[in-house]
Amino acid sequence: MLLLSIETSCDETAAAVVRDGRFMLSNQVSSQVEVHAEYGGVVPEIASRKHLEMIIPVVRQALRDASVTLEEIEGIAVTRGPGLLGALLVGVSMAKSLALACDIPLVGVHHIEGHLLAGFLDRPVDFPFIALVVSGGHTHIYRVDGIGIYHTLGRTIDDAVGEAFDKTANLLGLSYPGGAMIDRLAQDGNPAAISFPRPLMYDGTLNFSFSGLKTSVLTYLKKQVVPPEGAHLHDICASFQASVCDLLIKKTEAALRQEGLKRLVVGGGVACNSGLRAALLSMSERIGIELQMAPPVLCGDNAAMLAVAGDFYLSSGRNDGLAFDAVATWPLDKAVIKACSL
Ligand code: KG4
Ligand code: ZN
Repeated sequence: MLLLSIETSCDETAAAVVRDGRFMLSNQVSSQVEVHAEYGGVVPEIASRKHLEMIIPVVRQALRDASVTLEEIEGIAVTRGPGLLGALLVGVSMAKSLALACDIPLVGVHHIEGHLLAGFLDRPVDFPFIALVVSGGHTHIYRVDGIGIYHTLGRTIDDAVGEAFDKTANLLGLSYPGGAMIDRLAQDGNPAAISFPRPLMYDGTLNFSFSGLKTSVLTYLKKQVVPPEGAHLHDICASFQASVCDLLIKKTEAALRQEGLKRLVVGGGVACNSGLRAALLSMSERIGIELQMAPPVLCGDNAAMLAVAGDFYLSSGRNDGLAFDAVATWPLDKAVIKACSL
């Protein structure tokens, strides 16, 4: 099946063409990062307006890059939620219009389901497996028994890990979104220089808490006589990142042990982090598991990632039609069962 997918849940307007849920023919992403940077975060109203401006050019470009015409597209997958409602509505309306005009089926896909399965475009993994999804809005550990069969094992009880990166970067005077910048600065820093806490590390659950870690960076900064720069700044970034990685590794390893599974899939924007990728790799070698990390280009928000689940649902005969709405909040465990009834 030749599928067009559309993603507009936050600040990226994205469209892709994927064949058989496996072969990516195009993956067009138009980022609004620079527009929102001056506000220090995503401004929902501006995001919706930018999506409106970009959605048609981005879809056109995705078709052009794939060398296919709209008439050749056999199905559409769109991010239905969770995300910013006004932003989601742009993608969902576009998808519905195209489905109606071309008389082809349409499915609404969960954004996190997209992140979770993004790596399948590179290399599919056998079920069941443990999935770690780390993004700006989510930090979840799932047991995945098949496409559409997700069980939440653990999650953050406050900030998402990407949010913690971005808020910490802001405290350090780095521009939004600062996750990638902390990653870069950390590469020349000493991860053992400052001992930041590891909240909930030994609480016996698979949950996370990152807001206290961010506050401990703030407390540390308040004690400094001069704003950190040079090697000191690198050390803070490396030490903060080391705490985050320790927490993610500890809980993910515990989840694998608890479920008796030997396969781990990792996705989401923070899965780009070089420290986390190195730590996951070394953990996988140490305990002998199969590790599949989404390639960096598929970690951040994109539309191709929706095609894995989208193709699966469409191929099994599902068609959400035109009667479904975008949803701002939508737990993944219930996403598939309640796909058309929310
Ligand atoms: O998945 P994503 O693109 O959007 C959401 O669904 O949230 O994730 C964006 C998040 C941001 O918080 C960004 O700072 C973070 O991913 N991020 C990183 C890195 N690259 C992006 N965090 C740490 N290290 C990176 N290299
Ligand atoms: Zn995302």
